[in-house]
Amino acid sequence: MFPAIALYTKGTGSNYVLYKPYDRPFTLADKDRLERTNKQNIYIRSDDSPDLTAYIEENLSGFLVDDSISQRSKNMVLYQTSMEFVAEIMEAPHMLAANFTRCKGLIRNLMKHVSTSASLLSVLQEVAAGHLYILSHSVKVAALTMLMHEKAFNICQDEMLDVGIGGILHDIGMTLISPDILEKPEALSNIEYETVKTHSQKGYELLNKAGVFSDITLTIVRHHHEKWDGTGYPAKLKGNNISRSAQVAAVCDIYCALVSDRAYRKASSHAEAIRIMTSEAGGTFNKELFEQFRKIVDSQAPVG
Ligand SMILES: [Fe+2]
Ligand SMILES: [Fe+2]
Repeated sequence: MFPAIALYTKGTGSNYVLYKPYDRPFTLADKDRLERTNKQNIYIRSDDSPDLTAYIEENLSGFLVDDSISQRSKNMVLYQTSMEFVAEIMEAPHMLAANFTRCKGLIRNLMKHVSTSASLLSVLQEVAAGHLYILSHSVKVAALTMLMHEKAFNICQDEMLDVGIGGILHDIGMTLISPDILEKPEALSNIEYETVKTHSQKGYELLNKAGVFSDITLTIVRHHHEKWDGTGYPAKLKGNNISRSAQVAAVCDIYCALVSDRAYRKASSHAEAIRIMTSEAGGTFNKELFEQFRKIVDSQAPVG
């Protein structure tokens, strides 16, 4: 099953030694040989990286439930995949490199935490199995939501993890919606749209029943589609009746959705996304909060 790519080990100097050629499958004998020679790392050509990433993404949900794979390996696979997603939004030229580095650190901590908790890992596996887009979107929302909390508010490490878990599970309810609706390339009918809108309440109920999630996590999952003017869902909360974490997640959620390709529309550019969101600030979001967000994600934006 391993993709057809060449593997290398490190020689005595700085040279790389071919370990498995391109066209030969990776066998158990290869694995045994690696263990016998005590090689900790194998290397691939950077050209082959997209193939390996695609392979990992396709098989991620299977990896996470495979008992023969160690927790440490699962952690690394989850982290590696998540980094690809974070890089997709954070490597754009308008983003500060320091923010990208910081997001990597935040997601690394989050994934470390997730991989040590069986209940968290199994919920995340649901997200990964549902649709890769949901996982990719959720990792991006988690990264930005944590970054925003870190930069704008003074919160402790535990709260940061709760915020990250809320971010990464905010659309868990989507796994309960029919793929026929989620993957529909055309515009949704009113009934279908109303069905999609149930995901935040359904996700909340699912996690609440599990009994292990904090209030911060639960409020993000339940209220990330509330709007500042009270026209959101499911509770039509208004203004600061919406918890701060849910408000932040809502801003990050909309930004991440706008700058990603979807079945029914192409991705907006960063500048376009900010323009659309600026026109909605005050109705959809708290204006000041959006301004803080804009300053964080747009290093070229004029301040003020
Ligand atoms: Fe959502
Ligand atoms: Fe979302």
